[in-house]
Amino acid sequence: MEAQPLLTPYQMGRFQLAHRIVMAPMTRSRSYGNVPQPHAALYYSQRATKGGLLITEATGVSDTSQGYPETPGVWTEEHVEAWKPIVDAVHAKGGIFFCQMWHCGRASDDSYQPNGQTPVSSSDRRITLEVGEGGEPLNYPTPRKLTLEEIPQIVNDFRLAARNAINAGFDGIEVHAANGYLIEQFLKDGVNDRADKYGGSLENRARFCLEIVQAIIDEIGADRVGVRLSPFLDLLQCSDSNPDALAVYMAEALSKLNIAYLHGIEPRMVRVDGKMMIPHALLPMKKAFKGTFIVSGGYDREEGNKVVAEGYTDLVAFGRRFLANPDLPKRFELNAPLTKYDRSTFYTQDPVVGYTDYPFLQA
Ligand SMILES: Cc1cc2nc3c(=O)[nH]c(=O)nc-3n(C[C@H](O)[C@H](O)[C@H](O)COP(=O)(O)O)c2cc1C
Repeated sequence: MEAQPLLTPYQMGRFQLAHRIVMAPMTRSRSYGNVPQPHAALYYSQRATKGGLLITEATGVSDTSQGYPETPGVWTEEHVEAWKPIVDAVHAKGGIFFCQMWHCGRASDDSYQPNGQTPVSSSDRRITLEVGEGGEPLNYPTPRKLTLEEIPQIVNDFRLAARNAINAGFDGIEVHAANGYLIEQFLKDGVNDRADKYGGSLENRARFCLEIVQAIIDEIGADRVGVRLSPFLDLLQCSDSNPDALAVYMAEALSKLNIAYLHGIEPRMVRVDGKMMIPHALLPMKKAFKGTFIVSGGYDREEGNKVVAEGYTDLVAFGRRFLANPDLPKRFELNAPLTKYDRSTFYTQDPVVGYTDYPFLQA
């Protein structure tokens, strides 16, 4: 068997990883009423390996944080109790399990909000997209700009949710500061038009994110905190005029906080000579961050092995391939063919179909 960089062990702070294949966070919309369900225990444990790092789907920190159907929360005691058997199932297989936490901000509408209230954001700039990634119609309302007095409450929601996640047994949490959701709505100047200490300069736009990370660190310890960033994407119309500066600024600031890892998402793949290529834009970010670095976005076995071998990253997270191949590390080890993911069931709500029914390799 050829030696593969992805299959070499790695010490991520307090966590001994047996390999470098991480399961990327993926929303699955099967947590009815925002309560994690027993079928999630099967789904995640199918993908757990001894010493393998798994990150959950984005999980809400409060009743104002939601923006998609049937996504889980971690802000009530009921949520914590419901997560426990799921975490236990992953731990039973020796997996290391981080809970990704989000607030959707303006990527929500009144139907997801308590008392039908208006979703909040860094500004009152609305998402004007009319069609989603999957071709679904979109109609986002104009959000309400958070007041200075309200911001500490949201920071506190993240802190309490992190405590809840640890109480549920998670090994750590990942702050979702990517993909156009609330934290990124503060980070990027394409959305953030504030004139107070949370807007304008890079330092000011980063303040909300860094306050959240610091509050969580104070609550659960820096060695259990990861942060996910996507400076080079413009999902949900969240773009920045200088993503390179944003990437390096955040990496330096988070480096000082000694968090467990920084998780960067690549820009969209580009077509070069007819072949889809990953732009590999994250090297300056990785260099500016002294802790563990995770990359994701379009990686396969070959490209993942290459970037680990080159020292471009420490770990590689796989999304769609892990979704469709519960035994992905085993398949990589054997260079076995992969099952193709079925996009049509990414966000459907069946407890089995497109979720726990993807096949394992035959013995
Ligand atoms: C069904 C699905 C749900 C996703 N949900 C999330 C999410 O909850 N949080 C997040 O940070 N990224 C989410 N993503 C993005 C993935 O984590 C990953 O960045 C993306 O799929 C690109 O990586 P890949 O090419 O390995 O799939 C989602 C992707 C998919 C396909």
